[in-house]
Amino acid sequence: MNNAVFPADDYAIRSIRADEWRAVKELRLTALRDPVAHLAFLETYEQAAGRSDDFWQERTAGAAEGASGKQQFIAEVARTGEWAGTLTVLVEEAGTSDWAGFPVERRQGHVVGVYVRPEWRGSGLTKALFDAGVEWAWGRGAERVRLIVHEANERAQAFYRKAGFVPSGLTVPLAQRPDEVELEFVLGRDGS
Ligand SMILES: CC(C)(COP(=O)(O)OP(=O)(O)OC[C@H]1O[C@@H](n2cnc3c(N)ncnc32)[C@H](O)[C@@H]1OP(=O)(O)O)[C@@H](O)C(=O)NCCC(=O)NCCS
Repeated sequence: MNNAVFPADDYAIRSIRADEWRAVKELRLTALRDPVAHLAFLETYEQAAGRSDDFWQERTAGAAEGASGKQQFIAEVARTGEWAGTLTVLVEEAGTSDWAGFPVERRQGHVVGVYVRPEWRGSGLTKALFDAGVEWAWGRGAERVRLIVHEANERAQAFYRKAGFVPSGLTVPLAQRPDEVELEFVLGRDGS
């Protein structure tokens, strides 16, 4: 089904709800078994699979509808209720340091945990998820939205460019494999 085109009304994009932690866990574990998971995610399947129910409940509640600093979006297939893809947007405040120790100079959105099931890739669903996530970040007063992508994750980079993100020039060595580099891509509020 790769590259099939689905009408947009086959799925709905929405924020997760606090009681949906089992579905959050299932989709995350699926993402971590993807062939490019070692490029796409810092966590391993084994690490995630070993986490307690409490962890998943807290993670879900912290990014659910109504949470202010973090929001996880999913694409829900209308016919089956299956979650076809997800991303999470964090709000990073000016004057703080990010996870890598770099200063955050302005309020910005940071997109993480991007995953779309293979059968939905190339369908336009990823763009719909990004539209919702980016809109949410603008609504939280973000001046730009950024994400970090592995230098070898070419499909993801191609999508981000299509969505208007451009490399900022900032590179971050991977903590676990310092000979590999991740790239920062940014989207300006005016689309620049
Ligand atoms: C990254 C991801 C969300 C992108 O969504 P998608 O629906 O696959 O994206 P699209 O198909 O709309 O766009 C990708 C583009 O890259 C192209 N592409 C496919 N394989 C490619 C490759 N190996 N190298 C370069 N470009 C490639 C596609 O043809 C498409 O371009 P087109 O629309 O001009 O044809 C999805 O592929 C995914 O979930 N991947 C696994 C997890 C992941 O990598 N997450 C990102 C972590 S930063």
